[in-house]
Formats: sequence, C-alpha cells, structure tokens
Amino acid sequence: MQMRKLPWIAVLPAVLVLGLNACVKDNVSVNTQYYTAEEFATLSAALDLPAEPIDYTVVLPVHLTQQGFKAPIINNHKAALGRVLFYDKNLSQNKTVSCASCHKQELAFSDDKAFSEGFDGRHTKRNSLALAAAANFETSYGGDGGGSFSSFSEAVRFFWDERANSILEQSRMTIQDDIEMGMPMHEVVARIQTIPHYQVLFRKAYGPTGISEALLLEAIREFLNSFVSVNSKFDEGLARTNDPFSDFDIFTSQENIGKRIYMENCASCHSHNLSTAVENLANNGLDAYYTDQGRALVTGISQDEGIFKVPFLRNIALTGPYMHDGRFNTLEEVVEHYNSGIQDHPNLDFRLRNPFTLTDPKRLELTDSQKQALVAFLHTLTDEEFVADVRFMDPFK
Ligand code: HEC
Ligand code: HEC
Repeated sequence: MQMRKLPWIAVLPAVLVLGLNACVKDNVSVNTQYYTAEEFATLSAALDLPAEPIDYTVVLPVHLTQQGFKAPIINNHKAALGRVLFYDKNLSQNKTVSCASCHKQELAFSDDKAFSEGFDGRHTKRNSLALAAAANFETSYGGDGGGSFSSFSEAVRFFWDERANSILEQSRMTIQDDIEMGMPMHEVVARIQTIPHYQVLFRKAYGPTGISEALLLEAIREFLNSFVSVNSKFDEGLARTNDPFSDFDIFTSQENIGKRIYMENCASCHSHNLSTAVENLANNGLDAYYTDQGRALVTGISQDEGIFKVPFLRNIALTGPYMHDGRFNTLEEVVEHYNSGIQDHPNLDFRLRNPFTLTDPKRLELTDSQKQALVAFLHTLTDEEFVADVRFMDPFK
C-alpha cells in the first residue's frame, strides 16, 4: 500500500503528550477524572483502554427500584483497575490463568466445562458459577452491601457451599487456591507492583497509598459489583406489567406457559423476579447419596449434607453445564430432573416433595410441550447486552 501523508490528527497525541507532561510536573495533584497524557501512554503500552475512564454508573430499571433495590455506586477508576486485574494472568503462579479463564463474558462469566482448568492443568472440584447479578453482584449474592437483605445472616454468600462471606474473601481464596491460581497474596502484590500500568491504575483509584492486597481485592470487587444484568426479555416484560404472575404481552404464548410453570414450581427457591434470593441453600434431590457433601464440608453437620447454593437463573441458557458438578449439559435435562428425576435424599427440600404426603419426591408430570415451554421461558432470561458490553471485555492488547 502506498504511504499517504499523515493526517494532522495522527500527530495530535504526540503534541498532547509533550504539552501535558509539562503541566503534570507543575501540578502534583492527581487528576481523578481523566488520565494525563503521560498516564495514558503508560496504560496504552499493554492495555487497550479509552483515553477517558469508562463510565460504570449503574442505572436500575424502575421495576427493581420499586422493589427496594438500590443501584450500587461504582467508582470508575476502581472498576477500571478491577477489570484489568480480572483479566490478568499475572494473578496465577505460572501466568497461565486469569479470573476470566473460568468466568467468560460470552457465557455470562461462567465456564462451558463441567470442571475448569486451573493454572497447572488440574481441574476444579466444582462447576464455575456465573457472575451476573440483577441489582449488583455483591448485594444480590452477598450481604455486606445491604441490598435486599434485612440482615447479614440472611444474605447469600459465595461459592456453591457459601464458604466465603464476601467477594474479598472469595477472591483471596481463589487466588491462593492450589488448583485455581496457586499464588500467595504477597507474591501477587509484589508482582503487580513491578508493572508500570498498575502504578497508574492504583494511583487513579486510591491516590498515593501504593499497591496492597486489600486494595487489589477491593478493586476486583468493584468491577464485579458493576456486573448488572437487567436487560433480558423477561425484564422487559416485567417492566411493562410490573407483575411477574401476569402474562407478558411481549412473550410468545409458549413463553407465558413456561413462565406459569416456573412461578408455580421453581420461583419458591429461584425467586419470582429472578433478582432476590428466596432460599439461599437447598438440597434439590440430585442424588440419594452425594459424593460432594456441599455445605456439610463447611459446617460438618448432617443436615447440611447435599446442600448447595440456590444459583440465580439469569442468563441460564448461557451458563451450562448445570449444577455444582456440571452433570447436566442442557436445560432439557435440568427440566427432566425436576419433572421426574428428583431423588429422595434425607435433606431434600420440602418444596420438592409431593405436596400431599411431603414424603416422596415431587413428580411434575409435565407434557412434552410443557417441558419445552419451561425451557423457552428459561431462554427469556438471557441478557445479550450484558454479555456483549465492551466495559466488561478483556482490556489487554
Ligand atoms: C480455575 C478456574 C477459576 C478461576 C481462575 C477463577 N474462578 Fe471463580 N470460580 C470457579 C469455580 C469452579 C467456582 C465455584 C467453586 C465452588 O463453589 O467451590 C467459582 C466461584 C466464583 C465466585 C462465587 C460466585 C457465587 O455465586 O457464589 C466468584 C465471585 C468468583 N468465582 C470470582 C472469581 C474471581 C474474581 C477470580 C479471579 C481472582 C476467579 N473467580 C478465578 C472457577 C475459577
Ligand atoms: C428447593 C429449592 C429449589 C426449587 C423449588 C427449584 N430449584 Fe433449581 N436449584 C436448586 C438448587 C439448590 C440448585 C443447585 C443444586 C446443586 O448444584 O447441587 C439448583 C439448580 C438449578 C439449575 C442449575 C443452575 C446452574 O447454574 O447450574 C437450574 C437451571 C435450575 N435449578 C432450574 C430450576 C427449575 C426450572 C425449577 C422448577 C422446575 C427449579 N430449579 C426448582 C434449588 C431449587
């Protein structure tokens, strides 16, 4: 290709760098709004970030604010830093794995493998959980942020057995885990401190305090808390009627039939608005004998055997395989489990028992078209905007 004369716009960045550098030297205070040209040049060596920090402001739809959900206040610089950390393989011992390796955006931040591959090729013992919440990640899933929970003890915690009380705890456990990332926290901090773009990102987010474990974990949390998935067809329908039980005019009749089946049989645990946790933990009768005892591994009590977190079903069509061990590949298999496959475990939840006897497992006895309708409804929970949102994408060049 023939070289053309450089357009004037191409030389502008160089002019800006030179010009602004002078100002930076005179003015020591940190510009918390924008990157200086010098900062931007440092960032741009490795990262593909826009010159102005991305706006992570969360706006919730009215049908959620009316129910008392509060939009999280996100600090843009902290979220920008958290995003880079989330995608950075430096967080794992041999620099092969980042958070995003097992939490892929196009899969609503889950993994399509039953067990994810950790840094040295070994596999996690459970299926990766999707990281997409309704109001915001931490208040929907955790307690410390307030959200829809009246007390911390009611709050949903993290992991399939809810062994982490906060995202800070969860992230620390994950980074240090000898299968997942295998990195002692002080080594992560030491490594991050040597990377020029983190000097800029931490200074923007936290001022001159320097890089520490606490701030690193907080930034990851800020990024996760900006994950707000509220643009599914279901949300649109709910926004128009404000009543999850009435038929939605934008739904097909099949989707409305599926919604009715869901509200009758599933919402008592997975929630009517797909945004609040009704039941935090339950046994849903996958097996009569569990090889993974779930919550009991944390508490040691027999009433917790086979008890697992009730996962949110937003974006569920994207997050297979399903259940803590990824045993079901499709939503059809999941529906068949609830229809005819529930096992009589001693801790089986009463909602999944025969409502008349409360002894044997419930059998829904759905027809084929009802099963298809339930699956069609579950597909209305997909938020295409969320999984394509550039603000959550890999920022590395
Ligand atoms: C090697 C794969 C892997 C990596 C790397 C990984 N995760 Fe996970 N993540 C998982 C698995 C598997 C689970 C479920 C584990 C369990 O419940 O025991 C999980 C669970 C979680 C949860 C809990 C979600 C919930 O609803 O309870 C959060 C939050 C999370 N990961 C965030 C992160 C962050 C942040 C990072 C990077 C610091 C990260 N993960 C790195 C595989 C991974
Ligand atoms: C008693 C509470 C309860 C009821 C009622 C219930 N579930 Fe579940 N559901 C759970 C629990 C607990 C899990 C996780 C179980 C595990 O992995 O061990 C789960 C898991 C799932 C999953 C897999 C989620 C994932 O991320 O892997 C889907 C899909 C699902 N349920 C759909 C349904 C549908 C559809 C219905 C109604 C037919 C229903 N559930 C009724 C408690 C319940």
